[in-house]
Amino acid sequence: MTQVLTSRFHLKGEACDIAVYEKTGGYTGLAKALKEFTPDQVIEEVKKSALRGRGGAGFPTGMKWSFVPKESKRPKYVVCNADESEPGTGKDRDLMRYDPHQLIEGMIISSFALGSHAAYIYIRGEYWFIKEILEKAVAQAYAKGYLGKNILGSGYDLDMYVHPGAGAYICGEETALLESLEGKRGHPRLKPPFPAVVGLYGGPTVVNNVETLAVVPHIILKGGEWYKSLGTEKSGGTKLFTVSGHVARPGNYEVPMGYPLLKMINDDCGGIPGGRRLKAIIPGGSSVPILTAEECEKVNLDYESVAAAGTMLGSGGVIVMDETADIFESTRNLTHFYKHESCGWCTPCREGTRWLFNVFERMHRFEGRPGDVELLYDLADKILGKSFCALGDAAAMPVQSAIKKFPDDFHRRIKHTLVQINNAAD
Ligand SMILES: Cc1cc2nc3c(=O)[nH]c(=O)nc-3n(C[C@H](O)[C@H](O)[C@H](O)COP(=O)(O)O)c2cc1C
Ligand code: SF4
Repeated sequence: MTQVLTSRFHLKGEACDIAVYEKTGGYTGLAKALKEFTPDQVIEEVKKSALRGRGGAGFPTGMKWSFVPKESKRPKYVVCNADESEPGTGKDRDLMRYDPHQLIEGMIISSFALGSHAAYIYIRGEYWFIKEILEKAVAQAYAKGYLGKNILGSGYDLDMYVHPGAGAYICGEETALLESLEGKRGHPRLKPPFPAVVGLYGGPTVVNNVETLAVVPHIILKGGEWYKSLGTEKSGGTKLFTVSGHVARPGNYEVPMGYPLLKMINDDCGGIPGGRRLKAIIPGGSSVPILTAEECEKVNLDYESVAAAGTMLGSGGVIVMDETADIFESTRNLTHFYKHESCGWCTPCREGTRWLFNVFERMHRFEGRPGDVELLYDLADKILGKSFCALGDAAAMPVQSAIKKFPDDFHRRIKHTLVQINNAAD
């Protein structure tokens, strides 16, 4: 298996100690960047790498960085999005708990490239034990001169802070995250302006996912072309996938971009236990459209291939369901999550997710009415593309794709109702 980001995972957390991290090549990427690169050259190298943001949208990282104005009256910031609350996703957790310095080093190089002197790690509140690991690692980096004033004698200064969230999924959305970091309620902001221009405290801000930032030292050390060559033309490098559900060996897997989805499930994860057949896979965390077993056969794990199959790579949470799964029930479960996590700011999402859930609930109780499947689809349609932020779309797309691809699992609920009514009438 290709190991770039996970190359220190076998040390089972020993790399949290800065001495072990240094012994295994740690902080040499930072030394190289400060000595041999100008900030613009770092951005160019990241552009060459074809790295795309690993937080969900897959936006090209180098391009995002180039939107940050060179001159700014307000301070610039780098913010690491470590909120990781997407159901089915747990890769950032392992990146931080097994190799926190890799992320810190990536953030220092990124901050240098962007001309920022303050960097924040916004970490999911439930990851309190990882917050402690990060805080210890940040303190070690200060003690060794990788953070603070005049880093490695370069004249460059950077301070880093770890800030916990309070358990809201919406605070993973980058502008809600910035509101929360400023101490306000976590509502998304209107975009544009995008954070790269007007972000934290009104200053230009780059918000990147843990995985995106953690790979930067490798790109600097071995070159953007090398990183790109590990993956495909448009999706450079490797990516971590969290595989859960009906597989023999669930967990986090790092594979090159373009790796066949079913190869990962069958070879790396040990396939589906008990000789049962595959029914469906959600390939990119709970927010993306579901794939049938047949569709999975053609899918490779890169942004283009997954998009061609009508879904998204998202956060890399691969949820595997075998023939025993009831797609109605799994979608109901997800709808409950989105109803609970809707921040309530805009009407289509606030009201729509509640209505969706109400209809799911009566179908779950076998009290579904004729027309309820169509009603679910229509309700999702009223949310999709009509809400203030992407959480609305994330709630709607799984419902529509599940109904389209597994209609029997939904219509069965209506038939049952009719049978019950008929029985009652007898
Ligand atoms: C509701 C919602 C939740 C999100 N949660 C996360 C998250 O937990 N972690 C993350 O990196 N990005 C999350 N995102 C995406 C961020 O808004 C943003 O695109 C990302 O942090 C950018 O980093 P990247 O360019 O490295 O992918 C979320 C988006 C939405 C709409
Ligand atoms: S779409 Fe949902 S989460 Fe986003 S602003 Fe509207 S109510 Fe809040």
